[in-house]
Amino acid sequence: MTLMDTPPERAPALELAGVTKVYGGQPPVPALRGVSFTVRHGELVAIVGPSGSGKTTLLHVMGTLERPTDGLVRIDGVDAAGLGDRELAALRARSIGFVFQQFFLAEHSTALENVADGLLYAGVEVGERRRRAADALDRVGLAHRRGFRPTKMSGGERQRVAIARALVGRPAIVLADEPTGNLDSATGASILELLRELHAEGATIIMITHDGDLAARLPRQVHVLDGRIISDSGSAPGGGTAPGSGTTSGSGAAPAAVGTSGGPGEGE
Ligand SMILES: Nc1ncnc2c1ncn2[C@@H]1O[C@H](COP(=O)(O)OP(=O)(O)OP(=O)(O)O)[C@@H](O)[C@H]1O
Ligand SMILES: [Mg+2]
Repeated sequence: MTLMDTPPERAPALELAGVTKVYGGQPPVPALRGVSFTVRHGELVAIVGPSGSGKTTLLHVMGTLERPTDGLVRIDGVDAAGLGDRELAALRARSIGFVFQQFFLAEHSTALENVADGLLYAGVEVGERRRRAADALDRVGLAHRRGFRPTKMSGGERQRVAIARALVGRPAIVLADEPTGNLDSATGASILELLRELHAEGATIIMITHDGDLAARLPRQVHVLDGRIISDSGSAPGGGTAPGSGTTSGSGAAPAAVGTSGGPGEGE
């Protein structure tokens, strides 16, 4: 280990600055009220907060599933506002894996098909999709459930299928919304262990949880209340760089080329 091992400056994995999100309606709901924070590559971050505080909204905005009402969202140094819906869809397919709060599994498809569909937009041919899906299911301990439909599986098994689907494309960033919610503590612990392994392999992981004890076992905790970050323990010294340092992106660091044209096609 020498100083030369220090990697060249790289844009953060995720960067939010002054992000607000107001859901329209009567009355409008200000779900995010000015959120700024930075997640460096290779971090493992817990987002904690009570129900309705804006955690899922924050995750969706970070993952470019929803555009903020105001403020800046950068993924790997790329300003999401500058990308069209198709480009964002391509960016997500390439580098972000989602574990949704309601798993969103297709009930009439088998576990294997559900996971393989996670590669549909990644340009992988069908045989390879199935092979990788089988590997991912193996990984979450569900090799024996490949042919099962979600309706025939337990909550924890479904949660693991959702995780396998999020991971099958080996995304650089994993955004997980309550991946251990509704699970007994042993199953929850095994899911957490899986996320830790992925993190050890280099993935950047952001995980929402209600469980303060579980969050406390992760290197960084961000507490959300009423659409604002009320505390942030900062980047772990081992993981990214120093905590709380300012915005340091800008120069051409990230290889986040987005190849598609900026067509007006509606995203999903
Ligand atoms: N599509 C929507 N339209 C209008 N309001 C919404 C919408 N989605 C969320 N909200 C509101 O925004 C606020 C934040 O919701 P969000 O789902 O982000 O909370 P959360 O912290 O994830 O809660 P939970 O822990 O219960 O999942 C809530 O007041 C919610 O009612
Ligand atoms: Mg939520």
